Amino acid sequence: MKPLRIALTKGRLEKSTVELFEELGYNCDEVRNKGRRLIMNVGDGEFEVVLAKAADVITYVEHGVCDLGVVGKDTILENGTSFYELLDLGFGRCRFALACKKETDFYHGYGAKTIATKYPNVTRNFFEGKNMDVRVIKIEGSVELAPLVGLSDGIVDIVETGSTLRANNLEVIEYVTDISARLIANTASLKLRKNEIENLVSKMEAKIG
Ligand code: PRP
Repeated sequence: MKPLRIALTKGRLEKSTVELFEELGYNCDEVRNKGRRLIMNVGDGEFEVVLAKAADVITYVEHGVCDLGVVGKDTILENGTSFYELLDLGFGRCRFALACKKETDFYHGYGAKTIATKYPNVTRNFFEGKNMDVRVIKIEGSVELAPLVGLSDGIVDIVETGSTLRANNLEVIEYVTDISARLIANTASLKLRKNEIENLVSKMEAKIG
């Protein structure tokens, strides 16, 4: 039987997933000593791990070239859902928040507000829910800069410890939603490799409680 192929989001989620796999007794030495390699074996031939950027994890799983993926709920909310979300892995916890400069009244006035964000779909959905018309500007990183230099009235971004907001004299106006890492599966893989996937999911569930 060929190994189950799992796409991991590079970086923090990759580290936490490797720790979880090791706690379940699977050898992750190839991932720990990967160098510049992008495909590694995990366990004793059970799994093959692929490392990718968050949005690409979804692409690989949706196209069926990876059976499973580990990706943040933030990326799932922004990038669609043609796959199964199997499990909340409990790590990678943070929140989406609407924030603006301290001591400014974000909701003051009638004109449409401008929001800078890496997550335009999440942002539009959030304001649609409030029946508020906003202009959304897509930013690729360090979104906190946008209101400081006058590009936007506010931002919708990830807040973990809150220290980036504090360091830049910004404050949360409202939390949008909670985020954590999720295990996702390709819909065909879920049928074709049901037993192996269910076996992994129940082991993970038992470990994360
Ligand atoms: C994320 C996020 C915030 C920061 C929040 O950025 O976009 O900027 O972390 O964390 P905190 O509440 O603990 O300060 P990231 O480090 O991924 O960099 P980026 O903004 O350049 O994408």
